[in-house]
Amino acid sequence: MKTLLHYLFLLCFNILLPAVHSKCIKDQQQSLLYLQKSLQFDQPSYQTPLISWNSSTDCCSWVGVHCTRNGHVIGLDLSNTTISLNLSELDLRGNNISGPIPGSFANFSNLWELNLRGNNISGPIPGFFANFSNLRVLDLSWNNISGTVPRFFANFSKLTNLSLSGCQLNGTFPNEIFQVPTLQTIDLSGNFKLGGSLPESIGNLKMLSTIDLSGCNFTGSIPSSLFCLPHLSQLNLSHNQFSGELAFSSLLNYTVNTIDLHSNQLQGQIPTFLPYAKYMDYSRNNFNSIPSNIGDFLTDTLFFSLSSNNLHGLIPASICNASNLQILDLSNNSLSGMIPQCLTAMRILSVLNLARNNLTGSISNVDVTEDCSLKILKFDGNQLGGQFPKSLAKCTKLEFLNLENNNITDSFPCLLKNISTLSVLILRSNNFYGGIECLNTNDTWSSLQIIDLAHNNFSGEIQGIVWKAWQEMMATKDGSMSTIQVGSLTPVMTPPCMVASNLVTSGLRKEGIANARCSYSFFRKSALQTDSSLKYAVSVTITSKGLEMVLVKILPIYTLIDFSSNNFSGPIPKEIGEFNSLPILNLSRNAFTGEIPSSFSNMSLLESLDLSHNKLSGHIPPKLAELTFLSSLDLSYNQLVGRIPTSNQFSTFPPSSFTGNKGLWGFPLTVDNKAGFPPPPTVNGRAPNSKHNHEVNWDLIIVEIGFTFGFGVVVGSLVLCKRWSKWYYRAMYNILLKMFPQLEERIGIHRRHVHINQRWWRR
Ligand SMILES: *[C@@H]1O[C@H](CO)[C@@H](O)[C@H](O)[C@H]1NC(C)=O
Ligand SMILES: *[C@@H]1O[C@H](CO)[C@@H](O)[C@H](O)[C@H]1NC(C)=O
Ligand SMILES: *[C@@H]1O[C@H](CO)[C@@H](O)[C@H](O)[C@H]1NC(C)=O
Ligand SMILES: *[C@@H]1O[C@H](CO)[C@@H](O)[C@H](O)[C@H]1NC(C)=O
Ligand SMILES: *[C@@H]1O[C@H](CO)[C@@H](O)[C@H](O)[C@H]1NC(C)=O
Ligand SMILES: *[C@@H]1O[C@H](CO)[C@@H](O)[C@H](O)[C@H]1NC(C)=O
Ligand SMILES: *[C@@H]1O[C@H](CO)[C@@H](O)[C@H](O)[C@H]1NC(C)=O
Ligand SMILES: *[C@@H]1O[C@H](CO)[C@@H](O)[C@H](O)[C@H]1NC(C)=O
Ligand SMILES: *[C@@H]1O[C@H](CO)[C@@H](O)[C@H](O)[C@H]1NC(C)=O
Ligand SMILES: *[C@@H]1O[C@H](CO)[C@@H](O)[C@H](O)[C@H]1NC(C)=O
Ligand SMILES: *[C@@H]1O[C@H](CO)[C@@H](O)[C@H](O)[C@H]1NC(C)=O
Ligand SMILES: *[C@@H]1O[C@H](CO)[C@@H](O)[C@H](O)[C@H]1NC(C)=O
Repeated sequence: MKTLLHYLFLLCFNILLPAVHSKCIKDQQQSLLYLQKSLQFDQPSYQTPLISWNSSTDCCSWVGVHCTRNGHVIGLDLSNTTISLNLSELDLRGNNISGPIPGSFANFSNLWELNLRGNNISGPIPGFFANFSNLRVLDLSWNNISGTVPRFFANFSKLTNLSLSGCQLNGTFPNEIFQVPTLQTIDLSGNFKLGGSLPESIGNLKMLSTIDLSGCNFTGSIPSSLFCLPHLSQLNLSHNQFSGELAFSSLLNYTVNTIDLHSNQLQGQIPTFLPYAKYMDYSRNNFNSIPSNIGDFLTDTLFFSLSSNNLHGLIPASICNASNLQILDLSNNSLSGMIPQCLTAMRILSVLNLARNNLTGSISNVDVTEDCSLKILKFDGNQLGGQFPKSLAKCTKLEFLNLENNNITDSFPCLLKNISTLSVLILRSNNFYGGIECLNTNDTWSSLQIIDLAHNNFSGEIQGIVWKAWQEMMATKDGSMSTIQVGSLTPVMTPPCMVASNLVTSGLRKEGIANARCSYSFFRKSALQTDSSLKYAVSVTITSKGLEMVLVKILPIYTLIDFSSNNFSGPIPKEIGEFNSLPILNLSRNAFTGEIPSSFSNMSLLESLDLSHNKLSGHIPPKLAELTFLSSLDLSYNQLVGRIPTSNQFSTFPPSSFTGNKGLWGFPLTVDNKAGFPPPPTVNGRAPNSKHNHEVNWDLIIVEIGFTFGFGVVVGSLVLCKRWSKWYYRAMYNILLKMFPQLEERIGIHRRHVHINQRWWRR
C-alpha cells in the first residue's frame, strides 16, 4: 500500500523522491551501472544527477531510481538530464553489441515508471519496450523520437500516463491504445505528423482526466462519448483536422475546466455543456451559429472565444449572463445587429473583442459600469456609427482601444487623456474631426506606444506642446516580453527571439534571417493551479493597402505615429524630432507647411518616414541622410527645393520618394541641369534596382499587447521540438517578408507559399 501511495505521489508530482528504503538487488544495480556507463551526456555537467549512482551505495537510494520494498527497480526518472540515446547507433535486436544500453533497459522489465522527458533521444521507440508491460507511467516527451507509436502499448494494462508530446512521431496512432482502461493522461501534443481518429469507445476510459492531442494530425469526428467521461478535466484537441458537427448538449460531471477545440474544421452549432468549463476555445473552425441561450452555459466560464468562425446573426444577449467572463472574443465572424448593451456593462470583463464583424448601430450609448475592468476593447472593422462613447472615461485600466474602420463621428476623445494605462489608441478610418489638443488636461499617457489617427478629418495646427508632452510617452521601453497567447499552440518568443525581433527594427537585411536563431516554446493549459495566470494577446493590423496578417510578435518597444490622410495644417513642430525611439512616422496627405525640421535627424531609430502629399517647402535637411536605419522615405508631392542629400542610405531610395517636388534635383531624380546649378553628382556604379532594394514595405505593422489575469488557468510551457521551430520560422518569414519584401527575392520563397502561410496565421 505504501508503495502504491508512493507511486501515486510520483505520478502526481513527477519529482524525484528518496526511494522507499530497501536494499536493491545486486543484478539490478549492475544493470543500472551498465546503463549509467552507456548513457551519453550532451554536456558533462548534466551528468551530475547521476553522480549518486555509485556501486558502493544502495541503488534504491540513487537519484531517479525507485524500488519496491523488496528491491526491484520500478521507476527510472531521467528527465531533464539531457542524455542522448542514439538508438540508431545501437543494434537492439542483436543484443550482443558492446554498449549495454538496450539490455540494461530491457532488464528492468518490472519498471512502473520510465521518464525520459526532455532529453535528446532520437530514433524510434525500441521494440524491447514491449517488455515493459508493467509500466504505469511512460513519459518520452520532448525528445527527437521518430517513427510510429507501437501497438504494443495497448497491452500495457496498467498504464495511466502516456506522454509522447513534442517528438517527431508519425503514422497512425493505434486506436487500441485508446482502450487501455486505466489511462488517466494521454498527451501526444506537438507531433504534427501523427494522425489517427478517436473511436467512440474512448468513452470507456472512465479514469481519463487529461487528453491533449493538440498540434497533431487527427481526423474524423469527435466522439460525443468523450464529453461524458466522469473525470475529464483537460480536453485539448486544438490544431488538428477534426471535422463534423458537435451539435450535442451534454451533461458533464463537476470536473471539466478546459475545452480547447480551436483550429479544426468543426461545423454546425456551438456546442453547449453543463456544468461549465472555465476555459472554452472554439475559435478558428467553421461553426455557424450560436445558441441563443449560450450564456446560460457559461456561468463559470472565464475565457470564451468563438473568433474566426462563420457565425451569422445577432450576438445573443444571454451572453451577459456569463457573469464570470473575463475574456470574450467573437472577432472575425459575420455577426450583425447592435452590440447588446449589457455586454459592455459586464462587470469583470477585461477583454472584449468584437472586431471584424458586421455590427451596426450607434456606439454613443455604450455604457460601462463605474468600476469598468476593460483593458482591451476592440470594435474595429464593423459599421458602428454615432459618437465616441463617453462612458469609456470610466475605464481607467484601458490599455488598448481600437475603433478603426467604423463610422464614428466625433471630435478627438480628450476624455481618454486621464487613462494613464492607455498604450494603443487607434481611431483610423472614421469621421473624427477637429483638433487633437485637449485643454485643461494633463497629458498622462505615459504608456502610449501607438497612436493612429489616419484617414479621418482631423484638422488644425499641432502645437509643439502636444508633441512635447508625448515625448515622454515615446521613451524607449525596456523591451521585455509581455504577452503570450493562451490555448493555442502559438510559438512564443523567448528572450533569444527578441534578438530576432530587434533585427527587424534594426537593419535585418544586413544580418539575414538565417542568423535570427531563436529558441521558442509553446504554451498550453494544464490543471488549474492557484499561482498561475491566463494571458491573452491581442493584435492590431495597421494597413493601408488591404493587406491583412496577424502574427505573434511581441515588441513592447514598438511605437508608431500615423496621422496620415487628415487635414492637419501649419508647420511640423520641431519637437517631434525628440521622439528618438520612434521607428515609424507617417504624416502624409495633410496640409503641413514650412520646412522639414532638421531635428528629424535626432530620430535615430526611424525606419520609415512618410511626409508625402503635403505643402512642405525648403531644402531636405542634409542631416536626414544620417539616419542609418531609414529604409523607407517618401517626400513626394511637396514643394521642396534644392539638391537631394547624398549618402549611402539616400542612394537606396527610388525616384518615387522625391517626385512631385518641382524644385528638387540630384540623384535619383532625373537631373534638370538648369543654368546656374552645379553639375549633379555622378553616380557610382549602376542605379540600384528599385524593385529589390527600395520597396521596404511598412504598410503593415502589427503589435501585440497582452496582459495577465490573476486567476487560475495555468499556462505551462513546453520546449524544444523541431516542429515548432519550423513553424516559428515560417511565421518569422512571413513577418519579415511583409516588412522587407525584397527578402523574398533573396530567399527565393514563392508568393504562393507566403499566402498559404498567411492563411495559417489569420484569425
Ligand atoms: C542533441 O544531439 C545532437 C546529436 O545527436 C547534438 O548535435 C545536439 O547538440 C544535441 N542537443 C542538445 C541540446 O544537446
Ligand atoms: C563512491 O562512494 C565512495 C564513498 O562515498 C567513494 O569513496 C567512491 O570514490 C565513490 N565512487 C565513485 C565511482 O564515485
Ligand atoms: C524538469 O524540468 C521541469 C521544468 O523545468 C521541472 O518542472 C521538473 O521538475 C524537472 N524534473 C526533474 C526530474 O528535475
Ligand atoms: C547516431 O549514430 C550513428 C552511427 O554512429 C550516426 O551516423 C548518426 O548520425 C547518429 N545520430 C545522431 C542523431 O547523432
Ligand atoms: C552479434 O553476434 C553475432 C553472432 O554471435 C555476430 O555475427 C554479429 O556480428 C554480432 N553483432 C554485433 C553488432 O556485434
Ligand atoms: C540482465 O541481467 C542479467 C542478470 O542479472 C545479466 O546477466 C545480464 O548481463 C543483464 N543484461 C544486460 C544486457 O545488462
Ligand atoms: C515515419 O518516420 C520514419 C522515420 O523518420 C520514416 O522512415 C517513415 O517513412 C515515416 N512514415 C510515415 C508514414 O510518414
Ligand atoms: C495528415 O493526414 C492527412 C490524411 O489523413 C495526410 O494527407 C497528410 O499528409 C497528413 N499531414 C501530415 C503533416 O502528416
Ligand atoms: C458522474 O460520475 C458518477 C460517478 O463518478 C457516475 O456514476 C455518473 O454516471 C457520471 N455522470 C455522467 C453524466 O457521466
Ligand atoms: C452586413 O450587413 C449589411 C446590412 O446590415 C448587409 O447588407 C451585408 O450583406 C452584411 N455583410 C455581411 C458580410 O454579412
Ligand atoms: C456614417 O455616418 C454619417 C453620419 O453620422 C451618415 O450620414 C453616413 O450615412 C454613415 N455612413 C455609413 C456608411 O453608414
Ligand atoms: C495637472 O497637474 C497638476 C499638478 O500635477 C494639478 O495641479 C492640476 O490640477 C492638473 N490638472 C488637471 C486638469 O488635471
